[in-house]
Amino acid sequence: MVSRIIPVDPFDLVIFGGTGDLARRKILPALFRRFCAGQFPEGARIIGAARTDMSLAEYHAMVAVALSEHAEGRECAPGTVAEFLNRVMYVATDAMGEQGWSALSDLLKPTASERQSVFYFSVGPRLFGALAERLHLHGLAHEHTRIVVEKPFGHDLESAKALNAVLAEHFDESQVYRIDHYLGKETVQNLMAVRFGNMLFEPLWNSQYVDHIQITVAESVGITGREEYYDRAGAMRDMVQNHLMQLLCLIAMEPPAKFDPDAVRDEKLKVIRALDPVLPHHIVRGQFEACLDPGDPHPSYRGSVGNPRSTTESYIALRTHISNWRWAGTPFYLRTGKRLKARSSVINVMFKDAPHSIFGEEAGRHANLLSIRLQPNEGITLKVTIKEPGPGGMRLVDVPLDMTFAEALGPDGEDPPGAYERLIVDVIRGNQTLFMRGDEVEAAWGWTDPIIAGWNSRGDVPKPYASGSPGPTDADLLMRRDGREWRGINP
Ligand code: BG6
Repeated sequence: MVSRIIPVDPFDLVIFGGTGDLARRKILPALFRRFCAGQFPEGARIIGAARTDMSLAEYHAMVAVALSEHAEGRECAPGTVAEFLNRVMYVATDAMGEQGWSALSDLLKPTASERQSVFYFSVGPRLFGALAERLHLHGLAHEHTRIVVEKPFGHDLESAKALNAVLAEHFDESQVYRIDHYLGKETVQNLMAVRFGNMLFEPLWNSQYVDHIQITVAESVGITGREEYYDRAGAMRDMVQNHLMQLLCLIAMEPPAKFDPDAVRDEKLKVIRALDPVLPHHIVRGQFEACLDPGDPHPSYRGSVGNPRSTTESYIALRTHISNWRWAGTPFYLRTGKRLKARSSVINVMFKDAPHSIFGEEAGRHANLLSIRLQPNEGITLKVTIKEPGPGGMRLVDVPLDMTFAEALGPDGEDPPGAYERLIVDVIRGNQTLFMRGDEVEAAWGWTDPIIAGWNSRGDVPKPYASGSPGPTDADLLMRRDGREWRGINP
């Protein structure tokens, strides 16, 4: 497969929070990988900005360590790190004060009309307003400016509205890029390719043929290093309101007329607005228990956050419905959790049984299943029913038609860019298709808030589950009550 590097226009990219964890783990390595791929135009600059006073040499040393730890996976010629660092600058800047702002504007203003200025707000949301305001005051918020903001975008509907309003004071919606890194994943975009690039699936993609859909994002990791944030958020705010919601939208939305930002986002928004409120008995929340295994010992959820009474969930399973013509009557089951049996993100589309079996009762029940594996082992499996080979009558058996993308694309298949690489390049190019629009984020909070309020008012306490298990047993009951079962969580 021929590598396609589409050139981008010259740019300056300022990373506020340029010494932080996200910059070191994701943003700088992603930029470096694009640099190695030859996608940096002549003169493109990266400017780290943070409160810490440090020399350029010290910043370069920090970036070099970050690259050696987190930029694996792309072959780079010797000396490339030094060439990359030639593009990297540092300005000690205080979001809340005056420090650094004139230096930043001296650096950026002379070329402002010839190149894109991207400001990456890799800082807590409480600083978004101050940064937007200062960019404006210093003449850095202009028509060539784009800003990138990270999740969590708010804590609830009210705070998300406040953030949107603060950003809207100085930037048009077309300049704001709200990241949900799931949308940058190769396989998540494949959901759209599978649905809208094939004739095969779309005619069956509705409640007449689909019995139910399961979306699982299981993680084997815990919350180490993020305890404080996580205990305020929980799985609902950390994963369901954004990542799972995006998967649900892509699976359930109507075909957009074009693959363009507003056409796609309009359709996603319609899905969120059509979601029914979730009934209390359709939700199961869980918290992982301690693990004593000497190979991987760790405390319980409550032990990890240092609060023996914490009622924050590290696991959630729920059943929801989309009230529209396509999906009326088809339940969507969503689940996600930490410290589960394996890291596995899969969407299972479970089709209905054939309306009548010509083979009689003894042939058993057989329904098709389309499994879309998002990570790891990305690919698609379609389970089909065939005759069991050999004599002895008409016995039916289900077999998988399996396509693992890595195998299907062959040994010459390109190493696809990671989510952050793709998303950052999209910002520079000005393509918002894979970013969340303000109204979309608000609608997602609008659906999430009453669910959270409901369990708070009921004093709901999460159910314990063993680390390394598929989750609390109540989640199985949620399915069994409906005569269904979760598919296994397999690596
Ligand atoms: C983040 C969540 O947005 O996504 C984390 O805050 C989670 O809690 C992570 O672990 C999962 O991302 P990925 O790419 O590893 O599936």
